[in-house]
Amino acid sequence: MQQGVRIVGVGSYAPERILTNEDLAKLVDTNDEWISSRTGMKRRHIVAEDQATSDLAVEAAKRALARAGLDAGQIDAFVVATVTPDFLFPATACLVANRLGATGKAAFDISIACSGFVYGLTVAAGLVRSGVYNRVMLIGAESLSKITDYTDRATCVLFGDGAGAIILEGSSEDCFLGSSLGADGSNPDVLFQPGGGSRNPATAQTIEEHQHYIHMAGKEVFKFAVSKMVDSSLTALQKAHLTPDDMAYLIPHQANLRIIDSATKYLKVPAEKVVVNIAEYGNTSSASIPLALAELDSDGRLKQDDVIVFVAFGGGLSWGAVAWRWAA
Ligand SMILES: CC(C)(COP(=O)(O)OP(=O)(O)OC[C@H]1O[C@@H](n2cnc3c(N)ncnc32)[C@H](O)[C@@H]1OP(=O)(O)O)[C@@H](O)C(=O)NCCC(=O)NCCS
Repeated sequence: MQQGVRIVGVGSYAPERILTNEDLAKLVDTNDEWISSRTGMKRRHIVAEDQATSDLAVEAAKRALARAGLDAGQIDAFVVATVTPDFLFPATACLVANRLGATGKAAFDISIACSGFVYGLTVAAGLVRSGVYNRVMLIGAESLSKITDYTDRATCVLFGDGAGAIILEGSSEDCFLGSSLGADGSNPDVLFQPGGGSRNPATAQTIEEHQHYIHMAGKEVFKFAVSKMVDSSLTALQKAHLTPDDMAYLIPHQANLRIIDSATKYLKVPAEKVVVNIAEYGNTSSASIPLALAELDSDGRLKQDDVIVFVAFGGGLSWGAVAWRWAA
């Protein structure tokens, strides 16, 4: 039985510790002017040493539950999108559900890097629309600082930590308008963590060679990001017979302000419709879109029937967009 789906709760959490551009200039040969002008970033939130991704996810989940007026026991399935799980296995979602007091419910992770939220939203909405589950919590959560090489100025200025959660619920109105997802695994080393998996298991040498950190060919990523964000946004909208003019908000993955600006220029979306919080958080991978959505929600800027496009790209390479109608 096909039913509709709506978002009934949004919540986010960012750790307290702040790493500014000035702090980074003490670690590597960089400066505020370079970082601000090339990326739009000013600060990032960084986990404490004893904090892991599930700790951030649980806080965001509790806030989404409070916003929805629900208990964790009323959620049927938990999905965590992350590339920085607490452990390679078990899935971080299992730990999160248990910490929320919902042991026994379905729980699994999605690993598709910075595209995690749009892939996760497509999967979670599908579970609800197909009638498999009535309520699904989707959390994008990352502790990227734990896999960031703070001796590499080309990457360490970019990443931060945080989590955002949404609760999807079956509904007579259908807010899922369309999705467009894609991936190209022909050059995984453009953006990847080389060590620690079954290709290069951890050894003293992989540690010495910094293989357990994020490695990235920044220019390659930049080039593909703009075109994929534009194409997938347009395709997701087309599936709902909509155009960029119908959008109330575009919520892009926050990887680089110049990438966001270029994509929105192609899409001809005015700046006031583009949600940007990159200066505060940097790139938080799968958490960046729900962090931005939570800001919009708590600011009271979302109205009934607003059309939102969520769009992201990342390691894989991967990309995707979801067009969504907001139900207040
Ligand atoms: C990483 C990125 C900001 C670099 O910006 P860029 O304009 O492409 O800069 P370049 O890599 O060409 O580097 C230009 C110069 O700045 C230097 N540089 C790199 N990082 C620097 C830093 N943090 N501070 C100061 N200088 C830096 C480079 O060494 C290079 O110096 P050179 O000209 O003497 O060789 C940009 O490529 C980017 O954002 N790419 C996408 C990354 C991304 O989105 N990743 C996540 C995807 S989910």
